[in-house]
Amino acid sequence: MTQPFLDTFAPLAERPDTPLYRQLYERVQAAIAAGTLSPGDRMPSARALAKELGVARGTIELAYSLLTSEGYLLARGQAGTVVNPQLQLQALATPSAPPPSDARPGDETPDVLWRPSQLLPFQMGVSALDAFPRKIWARLGARYLRGMRPADMDYPPPHGLPSLRSAIASYLQVSRGIDCGAHQVFITSGWRSSLAFVAHALLSPGGRAWVEDPGYPLTRQILRQFGLEPVPVRVDAQGIDVQHGIAQAGDAQLAVVTPAHQSPLSMALSLPRRQALLDWAATHDAWVVEDDYDGEYRYASRPLPALASLDRHGRVFYAGTFSKVLFPSIRLGYLVVPQAQVATFERVGRALFAAATPTMTQAIVADFIAEGHFARHIQRMRRLYGERRAETIAALERGLEGRLRVEPSPGGMHLVLRLPGERSDRPLADRLLADGIAVQALSRWSASAQPDSALLLSFTNCTSPAQAQRLGELIRQAL
Ligand SMILES: Cc1ncc(COP(=O)(O)O)c(C=O)c1O
Repeated sequence: MTQPFLDTFAPLAERPDTPLYRQLYERVQAAIAAGTLSPGDRMPSARALAKELGVARGTIELAYSLLTSEGYLLARGQAGTVVNPQLQLQALATPSAPPPSDARPGDETPDVLWRPSQLLPFQMGVSALDAFPRKIWARLGARYLRGMRPADMDYPPPHGLPSLRSAIASYLQVSRGIDCGAHQVFITSGWRSSLAFVAHALLSPGGRAWVEDPGYPLTRQILRQFGLEPVPVRVDAQGIDVQHGIAQAGDAQLAVVTPAHQSPLSMALSLPRRQALLDWAATHDAWVVEDDYDGEYRYASRPLPALASLDRHGRVFYAGTFSKVLFPSIRLGYLVVPQAQVATFERVGRALFAAATPTMTQAIVADFIAEGHFARHIQRMRRLYGERRAETIAALERGLEGRLRVEPSPGGMHLVLRLPGERSDRPLADRLLADGIAVQALSRWSASAQPDSALLLSFTNCTSPAQAQRLGELIRQAL
């Protein structure tokens, strides 16, 4: 072994700002970029390296799994882990940078939708990747592959695998209070295809759609792609302000809402507002799409029943995703369609989305749910996130020394840290991103000309309170 190769695996030091797995991850990346590790080189086994470095084997496995998920390494099972032989070294030399930000407030915001090429600290929207039950997943995957019949190699059923549709229907009944049959559950490849499905099936270009302000930028973008005008409706402590929506666009075709935890401010939509929204939809023949992207994660009390569970007039489409409860690259979601719309969605879905999600993924998830792993995983994650959230808040506030407080919120996967002054969040978020910390500026999620300023940061992958304290210090120094 050459000296630089050995340096890559020299002992790791406890550093407050960088957890051990991250240090190893960065070293391996740097060694690959510098040519010290070449495509095809064999990596030491996790067990051997853990022994060598005197750290837990899980630390090495976490670094390797991140490197594998990003394509630097290739896991070859019994044959060990190697530097990916397909790696394009020139591509590594150019660090990815966010595309330029746009000028129109609340417009398509590529800088919010941009994702770094590697997972960065505090990055939004990613489940705890270190805690995913990989062994169970691998076992179910291997079992599926071994038992695969010729019929499993044909196109999947257009609306999803029956076993997955019924597993989801049972799960929703118990955990979200939604009384639906499996035939109402349409499998999609996540939120964007669920919303696109509704737009294709029911909406006419030129119409208007309420969106929450601030709200998920991708939702506005998808609606525009369908020729719909997103109408920003303000949110307050009770969630979307329905009376404001009626005053702005009472004739809208659709309202897109995040009732469990408003995205991104995390408050729940209050019961009176839920009723007002359903009344508006019923009396105006409007549709409501409930984006329940992280409703399972509530820490103070049990998750709230879904808005769809209160719908007596068949106006609400419930959209769920496995991005948050499993992991984002799975690209699997579902849409629960009111009974009276099922025939339309069967027709439109057959033509449009037939067989969009691989049978294998659907089958593994169906087994994962049916065998009880899903419910256990959610319970474990709820506990873990509760702990990580409390630790991150405490450490951030230590670093902030009382200058700012993290906004209390009942659930979700990220925190909101309010800043003084309009749009002061943008330069700060940009500066932190340049330092490799992926917090987001709330004002970039807003359509308002005078948006509130806050930083949005996820705690799900925050395993180091020291890192959160350091972030608090950096923010305090920048104020
Ligand atoms: C508000 C909101 N809805 C939905 C999603 C999930 O989208 P997808 O299913 O495409 O991963 C996200 C992901 O971050 C989100 O923040």
